Parts: sequence; C-alpha cells; structure tokens
Amino acid sequence: MSTKFFAIIAIVLWVATAAFVGFKFISGTTVTATDGREAIVLETSERDFILAEMRGFLVAVQEIISAANDNDMSAVKETAHRVGRAEVESVPPETMLKLPMAFKQLGMSTHDGFDEVGLAAEIGPEAVLESLEANLGKCISCHEAYSFSVGN
Ligand code: HEC
Repeated sequence: MSTKFFAIIAIVLWVATAAFVGFKFISGTTVTATDGREAIVLETSERDFILAEMRGFLVAVQEIISAANDNDMSAVKETAHRVGRAEVESVPPETMLKLPMAFKQLGMSTHDGFDEVGLAAEIGPEAVLESLEANLGKCISCHEAYSFSVGN
C-alpha cells in the first residue's frame, strides 16, 4: 500500500477525531435521569470537584446576605470576588468535554453574576441583594435541568 494511502487515512482519522471532540464539547456526555433531568455522567473525582464548588457557592450566598445585612460592603466585595470569574478553578479539559455547552455557559454566567454582585456593592446593600437574587435564578435553572451521575 502506498504512503499516500496511509497519509489519506491519517488525515481522515484526524478530521474525525477533531469533529468528535468538537461535537463532545457542545453535547457533553449525558443520559436522561429517572427524575427527567439530564444527568451528566462523570467520574467520582470530577463530580466531587464540581460539588465542592457548588458548596462554595452556597457559602458565598450566605456570606453576601449576612454582609449586606451588616452594611459591610467590603465583605460583600471580598466574597463575590472569591466566587467570581477571576478565581474560577479551572476544570480539567477531559471534564470540560463531558459538560454540555449550555451547562458551561450557565456556570460561567453564574461566576460573572457574582462579579456583578461585587460591583453592586459600590451602590449599597439593596443593590447587592437585587443582584444576588438575579444570580440565584441561574442556580435554580441549572438545578432544574441537570444532575450528575457517576459512570465509574
Ligand atoms: C451550570 C449548572 C449549575 C449552576 C449554575 C449551579 N449549580 Fe449547583 N449543582 C449543579 C448540579 C448538576 C448539582 C448536582 C445535583 C444532582 O446531582 O442532583 C449541583 C449541586 C449543588 C449543591 C449540592 C452540593 C453537594 O455537595 O451535594 C449545592 C449546595 C449547590 N449546587 C448550590 C448552588 C448554588 C448556590 C448555585 C448558584 C450560586 C449553584 N449551585 C449553581 C449544577 C449547577
């Protein structure tokens, strides 16, 4: 068989792999869960990583409400920054491929929403709570649509 033949096979495989990775990046790896949500299939360590981030979100929500009640705008800024876009712990690429596009966008938008809460602290506690309320809508819509399931 000619070298050209192998070169063509290599190119076809490369294109197929690139297309598969692109497809995965958008669709993720999901199954329909018993409760009707889309369950993203992860390994235990990947799920633990994301759930730890989730618990960090909940802590931040409590801290922000508490700081707003105390009129402590610098504490609001500090907490909001901790869960904002700049401090996002990077998700490993192989996990990224398992997350559907809409999930990734909603996740990023939640981090951005915390940055907006931090900016609202320049205005005052009412603006902080309004901005936090809007951001909590993203937690709710993601939880309504997705869950995690462990593949192995
Ligand atoms: C992009 C999607 C997404 C967003 C946005 C999101 N979550 Fe989650 N969260 C999940 C999924 C999926 C689970 C796992 C649920 C399941 O498997 O039933 C979860 C679980 C949790 C848990 C349980 C953690 C544990 O240890 O079991 C908490 C608490 C939580 N989220 C808080 C939040 C808060 C607060 C926000 C908003 C500030 C938020 N989440 C935003 C997807 C999201």
